[in-house]
Order: sequence, then structure tokens, then C-alpha cells
Amino acid sequence: MGEDMRFLIIEGTVRNDRKSIHAARQLLDVLEKKGHEAEIFDMKEKEIPLLKTRRYTDPGEPPEDIEQFGQRVEEADGLVLVSPEYNHTFPGALKNLLDYLYPEYDDKPFSFVTVSGGGFGGVRVQKDLENLALTLGGHPGPSLPVSHVSDIFDPDGDLVDEDYQERFEDFADRIVEHVERFQ
Ligand SMILES: Cc1cc2nc3c(=O)[nH]c(=O)nc-3n(C[C@H](O)[C@H](O)[C@H](O)COP(=O)(O)O)c2cc1C
Repeated sequence: MGEDMRFLIIEGTVRNDRKSIHAARQLLDVLEKKGHEAEIFDMKEKEIPLLKTRRYTDPGEPPEDIEQFGQRVEEADGLVLVSPEYNHTFPGALKNLLDYLYPEYDDKPFSFVTVSGGGFGGVRVQKDLENLALTLGGHPGPSLPVSHVSDIFDPDGDLVDEDYQERFEDFADRIVEHVERFQ
């Protein structure tokens, strides 16, 4: 099933002490173990200024890391947005990053991991991300809500909740199936 797919996992925040990065890394690990290529695009390791020049549509050169982001999006078979819930929606930093591109998202399958400190697993973010993916010309697909994120990963980022191991495995299978529909 779905051999050799390439996934771009987009981490949605640069907050100090962020927990959603653990979910991004967990998904990376599960996808790689299933034989897929996966990479995390982490704004914390990049220079992503507030948008002044979109990659294709505005005059001038986009920032170097945006050029790389655009290439990664184009190469990916599937995009996975990993987003915490901040004030009932996704972080502004994620919106700023995504706004740099547009034609690059055309027909891309999108999946979502939504993360919260409380018990609702960021489900309010999910609808906003689905709408955004549609607006970008993509195909919104499966979501994995992650609740009580501080309890399911230890401070080193290791998954300590066995139920979630299965949920990540199942989610990885579902996103592969979602991508297959559009290939
Ligand atoms: C600015 C801000 C707003 C937040 N708003 C919400 C919220 O609306 N609902 C919620 O369940 N958690 C909220 N949280 C808690 C996050 O869900 C929590 O920080 C969680 O660990 C995931 O985000 P992280 O990757 O930044 O750690 C908020 C956190 C921050 C920093």
C-alpha cells in the first residue's frame, strides 16, 4: 500500500517549550517506519519573516527559506499540518508561512494533527484548517486530535501513552490512503 510516498510535515508554531513538535516528530517516525519519505518543515530552524513577497505572485525575490519551502511543497505527495490550538484557531505564524505560496498547493492532499493542552484535542482548529486547505486549492483529509499533550509525551518528547501509539499508526495509514485517492 502506497509505497515510497513523500510527506511534508509542517510544524505550526515556534513557541518556546512547544509540545506540538513532539507530535510532528512522532508522525515522522511512524511514516518512515512504514517505508515513506517524510520531512518536518520547522519554522524555528528557518528565517520566515512576515510576508512581504509571495513566492510566485509578487515582484521581487522571496526569502531563501521560502524558496526551499515552496520546493518542498511542490515535491510532496501529501502535506500534514501539525497545529496547536491558540485562542480557538491555528497560530498566526502558520498562516503567515502558508500565505507565501498558492499555486504550489493546487490539488495537494492535506492532513491535520491538532494539539491541545486540554481535553478537546484542538478540534476547533481542525475546521479552520480544513477550510484553509480548501481555499488553497487542496484536498482536506484525515485529522488526528491530540489532547493533554503534556501527558502523552514525556519532557524528552517520547510517547508514553500506548493508546496514542496506535492512533498515530492508524492516522499514518489513513493519510496514505487519502494521498492514494489523488494519485
Ligand atoms: C497563545 C496560546 C493560546 C492558547 N489557546 C488555547 C485554546 O484556545 N484552547 C486550548 O485548548 N489550548 C490553548 N492553548 C494551549 C495549547 O493548546 C498548548 O500550549 C499545547 O501545548 C499545544 O501547543 P504548543 O505546541 O505551543 O505546546 C493556548 C496556548 C497558547 C500559547
